[in-house]
Amino acid sequence: MSERHYSVDLKFDIPVVVTAGVFETANPVFRNLITRRGAGRCHRLLVVVDQGVATAQPGLVAAITTYARTYADSLALVCPPVVVPGGEDVKQGLDHALQIVSLVNDYGIDRQSFIVAVGGGAVLDMVSFAAAIAHRGVRVVRVPTTTLAQGDSGIAVKNSVNLFGKKNFAGTFTPPFGVINDVKFLSMLSARDRRSGLSEAVKVAVLRDPAFFAWLEQHATSLDAGDLELLAEAVGRSATLHLEHICGSGDPFEFGSARPLDFGHWAAHKLEALTDHAIRHGEAVAVGLALDLCYSVRAGFLAQDVADRVMQVLTNLGFVLYDEGLTSRTVGGEWSLLEGLREFREHLGGDLHITLLRDIGDGFETHEMHSPLVLAAIDDLAARAGQAPAPVAVRSSGL
Ligand SMILES: NC(=O)c1ccc[n+]([C@@H]2O[C@H](COP(=O)([O-])OP(=O)(O)OC[C@H]3O[C@@H](n4cnc5c(N)ncnc54)[C@H](O)[C@@H]3O)[C@@H](O)[C@H]2O)c1
Ligand SMILES: [Zn+2]
Repeated sequence: MSERHYSVDLKFDIPVVVTAGVFETANPVFRNLITRRGAGRCHRLLVVVDQGVATAQPGLVAAITTYARTYADSLALVCPPVVVPGGEDVKQGLDHALQIVSLVNDYGIDRQSFIVAVGGGAVLDMVSFAAAIAHRGVRVVRVPTTTLAQGDSGIAVKNSVNLFGKKNFAGTFTPPFGVINDVKFLSMLSARDRRSGLSEAVKVAVLRDPAFFAWLEQHATSLDAGDLELLAEAVGRSATLHLEHICGSGDPFEFGSARPLDFGHWAAHKLEALTDHAIRHGEAVAVGLALDLCYSVRAGFLAQDVADRVMQVLTNLGFVLYDEGLTSRTVGGEWSLLEGLREFREHLGGDLHITLLRDIGDGFETHEMHSPLVLAAIDDLAARAGQAPAPVAVRSSGL
């Protein structure tokens, strides 16, 4: 018998460029990013645009075409930009991803060509997934257009679609070729989508950066009022903290079970599914954070006044910290949220890893969540929201 171990070191260089007006012809940022590994030749591009962005900026599709013509020596669109529906529907099942894969086939997109995804986190997830499976990986440039995508999902290394009623069930870890955050897109967002990504900013601030949390605390009301300069700063700081984690944690592809930045996410993912995605990811994260803050207090880890401070910031940002989905039941009468905890454990590979908080800047991992305390935390949120708590008599379920 013989056994030899071979090792491969991989290094990824992921430029994240912040600009304004990415497809204005005077702005060379996009051309420079595409040509950074192959100046002097023409690069073929399949551009996919989120319908919500195309509607908010009616001239966008034409502007992309004009941009490519202006830089025709280095950029060539294989077809006019393809517009796909925006929001969670686009990553439900495989249909849209397979549409992109078939365009790769139709237009002879190869591994030296590019797929450019312009849109919110859902469109970026779906398009990046399609790109990752076509030819085992076509280069992707992401142009995130929401606060959530610019501050978190669009700059990260994951992609996915939802399958079997489960969030992100099919996906890969594939770093993008590059990311361009255009602050002008933030000005077109609805108040709801402008707010949505700020829960991820609060999350990463309370875990990693007390000074940023204090800044958010100071500016929460102005951020909710739509101050774009502050919004761009919040998104930029959130992106930096998320990138520092991905590049510095030693586990960018999540081979281990730990999920240090998934504070509030076990409940958030379940809530998204329970509400049939009527609630946005960022909104669900705000509820999930509040739930885990109340749990941290109930379990004796966190002082009530610190939990109150964080929840106040979320409230000042305009988030609602309670959702009826928290008390929904399965057909068998089980608390659906507790089922979510089991699914999260399964997703991690058997051992539960939940991030909780001891203080601002002091997150830690726990490996068990006690059902009665989870249910008590739901009651706390219901009480804060002025909702009647769910009946106590049926609360015998344990994990
Ligand atoms: N890959 C990751 O690491 C990761 C991390 C966190 C979240 N996510 C995923 O991101 C998704 C949520 O993304 P999101 O919060 O960006 O929402 P979204 O993609 O669902 O978009 C929300 C809405 O905003 C519209 N929109 C997008 N940009 C716009 C603009 N500039 N102006 C006007 N409308 C615009 C979209 O059309 C859509 O209707 C979820 O599916 C979530 O699971 C992925
Ligand atoms: Zn998230």
